[in-house]
Amino acid sequence: MKAARQASDLWWKNAVIYCLDAETFLDSDGDGCGDFAGLTQRVDYLAGMGVTCIWLMPFFPSPDLDDGYDVTDFYGVDPRLGTLGDFVEFVRTARHRGIRVIADLVVNHTSDRHPWFQAARSDRDSPYRDYYVWRDTPPADGDEGVVFPDAEDSLWELDEQTGQYYLHRFYAHQPDLNVAHPAVRDEVAKIIGFWLELGLSGFRVDAVPFFLEIESEVGDVDLDPHDYLRDLRAFLSRRRGDAVLLGEVNLDPAEQRRFFGDEDGDELHMLFNFIGMQAMYLSLARADAGALEEALRALPPVPPDNQWASFVRNHDELTLDKLSDAERAEVFAAFGPDEDMQLFGRGLRRRLPPMLDGDQRRIRMVYSLMFSLPGTPVLFYGEEIGMGENLAVEGRLSVRTPMQWSDERNAGFSDGDASTLPIAVVEDATYGSSAVNVADQRRDPESLLNWMERLIRRRSECPEFGWGEWQLIATAEPALFAHRCDWEGSTVIAVHNLSSRACTTTLEISEPDDCEGLIDLLGDRDEVPLEAGGLQLDLDPYAYRWFRVRRRGQRLLP
Ligand code: NOJ
Repeated sequence: MKAARQASDLWWKNAVIYCLDAETFLDSDGDGCGDFAGLTQRVDYLAGMGVTCIWLMPFFPSPDLDDGYDVTDFYGVDPRLGTLGDFVEFVRTARHRGIRVIADLVVNHTSDRHPWFQAARSDRDSPYRDYYVWRDTPPADGDEGVVFPDAEDSLWELDEQTGQYYLHRFYAHQPDLNVAHPAVRDEVAKIIGFWLELGLSGFRVDAVPFFLEIESEVGDVDLDPHDYLRDLRAFLSRRRGDAVLLGEVNLDPAEQRRFFGDEDGDELHMLFNFIGMQAMYLSLARADAGALEEALRALPPVPPDNQWASFVRNHDELTLDKLSDAERAEVFAAFGPDEDMQLFGRGLRRRLPPMLDGDQRRIRMVYSLMFSLPGTPVLFYGEEIGMGENLAVEGRLSVRTPMQWSDERNAGFSDGDASTLPIAVVEDATYGSSAVNVADQRRDPESLLNWMERLIRRRSECPEFGWGEWQLIATAEPALFAHRCDWEGSTVIAVHNLSSRACTTTLEISEPDDCEGLIDLLGDRDEVPLEAGGLQLDLDPYAYRWFRVRRRGQRLLP
């Protein structure tokens, strides 16, 4: 049974996840908006790259005031993106190519135009009133914890019609649902069940800690938030045993562990590694691995059937909220010194390549590092070709510009008029589609795209990174981040030089006598000897090396 469990049941342990928004991927009908029919045409592209799971950003009917995270119907497809039929065709095509699909589950709140809220605010006696959280007066701390300080100054908004305030963790047009209400919990389960029935393999759960806030919202309710999350997980698993919950839980390490589930890891299967991501940028800025090492050491232990999800950036501001003010200032100075590159005082609205001045060695080193960190790698669309951001676009949307397929009109994303695109394409000479696009990179063996494809292939062949026990390897060079992952008698070792300086180092690696050498997994050198004193390496600036220990009697892919 063990083998079956490892090989496929926990498929997400060794997955490569790719996040995209159908709205900005490919427009099939020239109306300016990406759609499911377009996305379906590009499934082969993703399969060719080695992606094994697509994470769809919200595609539900929405006034689109928060890029779809403001839902008016949890059971539908936004007509701009196609029909439910188009959605099912896409999921079916992806499955046929061996790709699973997960989607955002945005149930912390609805749009204020959702029929539930419309009914709730029409009358204090509406049966939908308790779907939301109401107070006669906002609590004294009602202005604390505002997530979007550019737009809001309180978590409570007065509903003029009924004279009470409603809770909204995010924008005022996103009233929070009240999960203390059994009918809301039933709805959430029904939403999950609906999309699983249509072929989804799980969900990226939006804003988990906010969604689970129960007592603080409605006072004395006898519902433990983690019991609720456990129930939700149990329901999901009953409906579809291999479905996954990947949670957005950006909390301090001490608080994160509970979201995997107290004992058995029976709540969220995976959590995004926000702490590791933020520390990685600090380490990059300092060319010193210390911050990343410290952050990984501080992470709570992960139960065997759970996992971190690693990422370089996601669709939001690249948040640095868990760094100290001084540390954040260091990262800002290194990677986003202009005020216009920063957001909410806590993050950056840039993509990686421009932050690293387009230095290909450094960009590749960062992705090699991310793919080797303990966990499952998650790419944000366009990272594989090194897309940049469009700072002329407002707020977080600067990194959500249309996918750059070619140097044709609208980056090959749409035949429509540029004024009809949901977000303007990147225009500049360095990162615009004349310089950065899929079509050109497909034909260039040295391109980032082809390199990424090779990296993904290697990563998929190294389940040790996803499944194994990880351990840092001490080095005398502060700029080097070195670690090993051991799993079922197999070992991979990765070394990353975060600095622009070349160095020579000896890594202390001791292996039993059955070690016959190290297979070089990314380079063109077949095998590196393991001397008595350890592994000696000459590392170029921003070098990245992965090795697998070759043990006597093992028949590993060279
Ligand atoms: C978190 C999402 O990542 C973000 O994009 C969104 O604005 C908020 N949740 C509100 O749904």
